[in-house]
Amino acid sequence: MKPIFRSRIKKALALLAQTETPSALVVSGNPGAIRSRDTHYPYRPNSDLYYLTGCTAEEVTLILRPHAKDPVVLLAPPKDPVKSMWDGAPAPVKPLAKSLQAEVITTNEPLKAAINLLRGTSVCYAQSIAGTLSAAIKADLSARGAHELRGLPQSLVDVESLTAQLRMIKDPSEIKAIKEAAAITGDALLYALGMVQSGVREREIAAFIEYFYRAQGAEPAFGTIVASGPSAATLHYRALTRTLKNGELLLIDSGAELNMYASDITRMVPVGGAISSDLRALYEIVLSAQHAAIKKVKPGVVIAEVHKAAATEITRGLKELGILKGSVSELVKKSAFKPFFPHGIGHSLGIDVHDATPTGAIKLAKGMVITIEPGLYLPKAVGRFPACGIRIEDDVLVTSRGHEVLTDETLPKDLNSLLELMAG
Ligand code: GLY
Ligand code: MN
Ligand code: MN
Repeated sequence: MKPIFRSRIKKALALLAQTETPSALVVSGNPGAIRSRDTHYPYRPNSDLYYLTGCTAEEVTLILRPHAKDPVVLLAPPKDPVKSMWDGAPAPVKPLAKSLQAEVITTNEPLKAAINLLRGTSVCYAQSIAGTLSAAIKADLSARGAHELRGLPQSLVDVESLTAQLRMIKDPSEIKAIKEAAAITGDALLYALGMVQSGVREREIAAFIEYFYRAQGAEPAFGTIVASGPSAATLHYRALTRTLKNGELLLIDSGAELNMYASDITRMVPVGGAISSDLRALYEIVLSAQHAAIKKVKPGVVIAEVHKAAATEITRGLKELGILKGSVSELVKKSAFKPFFPHGIGHSLGIDVHDATPTGAIKLAKGMVITIEPGLYLPKAVGRFPACGIRIEDDVLVTSRGHEVLTDETLPKDLNSLLELMAG
């Protein structure tokens, strides 16, 4: 197990120790989810537990208590030979505990054990994820009357308010992991390009991309979005039911997750390798909005400024096409772009594709990885412009002086270069 996890635990202990009264943190593995009777959804380990420990197990719980004699405890179930016979044996907890300098408590009654460990603490940072031991502890404590709470935490805080502070800034090993995931996504989109032909179904392209990820040892970080023509006006389109038609634009929004780290790229592809001048005009607006937003990314900038740069370009473009009328600055001020660009400029990216982010007006800082993904959506035709959705998305690292785009190695965004590539 890498020392990086021990250093993250130390940072979490230091944050907990800052509170005036004794605090504890409880983070558990995710429960498995049933798909139907005896079949399960693919298992996804808990992001916070992984971040702090490297543990991907279902039934392990980490408890941090900076004030205690044994500040790092792992709760784990006893061996279950029958479960192991069906599902395989879980990774042993002892080597993990050694590397984390943690005590292990093996117990069939984890709730009881956890409550005992929480005696003497006033604040408990716990998860809200249904089915976790951490959430069960929260429910147990919340249900107690005042006299039953004596000596136990009376203040319950969502664990993300603490872990998001740590996870927001990526260390070099995380940046490397995101780059590796992004490289797989980039390759998948390049290989899928030949499929973008009239008559091909959206689901065939999504299936190919997800096959490619799995063949590389990765997983889709989220359901692959392959949306042609008007389908792309649905932001998180999942139906995958349309058949591609010449003359339409295809939106592909996808991301491989490798070794627990996600990537997230959106590219637009003209079906059949040709594009009308009207769709080209809309596309160019989104591309210049993305360039303007990426240019803003540097330490100290608030994300609202990055959004505003994109919104201004989209407004300017819509005005030039006669879709919006008035002065650009007035239109931006009253958010006239909102019906066409209704979402944020992007999100933090890491172990979760929409990664943990502290609340409030966060300023960009070195080591943050964010997506920059402006879009322009016409759910219905507007004049000569057909119903469509256009989004362009890259993953961007904030560096000490500016930024680095981590996702350049895929389909070109410049339309002429893309059309040349399609023409072979
Ligand atoms: N793929 C979902 C998103 O871009 O946020
Ligand atoms: Mn995204
Ligand atoms: Mn995306």
